[in-house]
Amino acid sequence: MPDSPCDPFVATFALAAVGIAHVGLDGRWLRVNRTCCEITGCTEEELLQGRFQEITHPDDLGSDLENIERLLSGKGRHYSMEKRYVRRDGSLIWVNLSVTLVSKPDGAPDFFISLITDISRAKALEADLIASEARYRSIFDAAVEAMAVIDHQGSIQSVNPAVERIFGYQPEELVGRNIKVLLPRAIAAKHDGYLERYRRTGVPGIIGKGRDVEGRRKDGTLVALDLSVAQWTHDDRTYFTGTMRDVSKRRATEAALLQSRDDLQSLQTEYAHLARVTEMGEMASAIAHEINQPLTAIANNLNAGLYAIEACDAIEASAEARIVMKAAADQAIRAGLIIRRLREFVGKTTGERRLEAITPLIEAARDLALIDAPAHGIEVEMADDGQDLHATIDAIQLKQVLVNLLRNAVDALLTLPKGAQRKIRIATGLSDIAGQFHITLSDTGPGIPDRLRQSIFEPFFTSKSHGMGMGLSVCQRLVEAHGGTIMLEPTKLGASFRVSLPLDR
Ligand SMILES: Nc1ncnc2c1ncn2[C@@H]1O[C@H](COP(=O)(O)OP(=O)(O)OP(=O)(O)O)[C@@H](O)[C@H]1O
Ligand SMILES: [Mg+2]
Repeated sequence: MPDSPCDPFVATFALAAVGIAHVGLDGRWLRVNRTCCEITGCTEEELLQGRFQEITHPDDLGSDLENIERLLSGKGRHYSMEKRYVRRDGSLIWVNLSVTLVSKPDGAPDFFISLITDISRAKALEADLIASEARYRSIFDAAVEAMAVIDHQGSIQSVNPAVERIFGYQPEELVGRNIKVLLPRAIAAKHDGYLERYRRTGVPGIIGKGRDVEGRRKDGTLVALDLSVAQWTHDDRTYFTGTMRDVSKRRATEAALLQSRDDLQSLQTEYAHLARVTEMGEMASAIAHEINQPLTAIANNLNAGLYAIEACDAIEASAEARIVMKAAADQAIRAGLIIRRLREFVGKTTGERRLEAITPLIEAARDLALIDAPAHGIEVEMADDGQDLHATIDAIQLKQVLVNLLRNAVDALLTLPKGAQRKIRIATGLSDIAGQFHITLSDTGPGIPDRLRQSIFEPFFTSKSHGMGMGLSVCQRLVEAHGGTIMLEPTKLGASFRVSLPLDR
């Protein structure tokens, strides 16, 4: 066939981008164009020597021949089909074949016109699509999580088999229904509103995030779920894929863990209380002795009063009674004070330790203990080494320690003559010992004689007329319970107590 034929019809045949062929009734190629040769991979001569049956894929030949048979028997003039040729090099090519029967003037079948289009690219894309669909379908179907695809109105498009395990529905029971069927009633009532708001504002509530929610099973019971929602668009329509994991077991475990933590904490509190009660037991004999003194004094005084009333005349008796009853009352107050201090000691703190910032705690203790300091001309100085100290402690107990020490300092300063320097210094900083910090409370009072350095920490040691002698012994027990120490530092002037405690950084 000439390369550039002049006749437009011949040119159309020769140069068309689709394969065009005239095929005899027996299948013999009569005329073929260049594209036809390109598609089949054969030269024109090779084609013209053979028949289409020889290069048609055996699997497609049957239906092709049936189609031809149909045309020859007068049922229709055209057919179209997709089929494969085996090319000259043995490879396969997918084509779309359209065949028209041309008849002779007398109506007898003459030959076929075949139009052949290469559709191998489209076929490859289709195969890819099918493979990809199969891949995603297998993930969807095999997922442990229940997955549901809904449209913009909440209508369920598809669900995977896992929904049955979590919700008790067969997948086919759900397709076409609204997703609300899987939600607790209270949330279901609002769900249309959520979708509508999202459509209107585009503000994603739950989309793209995981969230703990509840789902409703077929039997009406609720199930704890971890839900994540992804959104996608196809043909201008919005769809949402919800992935739901049953977390009821995890929730139950968490609740049990929380409960056992609570149990442990109350056990610890109980234990702390018990420890303090035991300490109280140790102190009990000392206390009994201490309370015995005022009680004996009360009894003696009351007896003296009684004796005076019986033995003396009225005026003398009332004067005597007044004195002894006052003494008895004072002693009763002292006994009461002892009991109160004791209750403070075993008292109300939970024994709970937390990570606390130290400086605010010192400031709170200072404000509490030194409220009357300015009135007494006492100057207070705070100093720290700039470290932001933290420690795991019982804040109430540490405050109690600091208040006791500061009150002692105030008591000591008040014994100084007027005009003497009255100063308290609270210094905080890291200790030389690694992992410890210290709070040092110094005063410019009369100080503590060397011979009393040990005694002051003993219960009921006091040099004060109204002192109980419990402050320092309580301080020592509380600090030691925190793994710390309290000691009296050597000073030239006044007294200085150093509390050292383990540090959390
Ligand atoms: N900063 C101080 N300066 C001088 N002496 C002190 C100082 N701190 C404590 N002492 C001495 O130690 C003693 C014991 O103190 P502690 O706090 O245990 O009991 P108290 O203050 O006497 O009575 P309370 O039970 O009311 O605290 C005090 O009586 C006092 O003699
Ligand atoms: Mg004291």
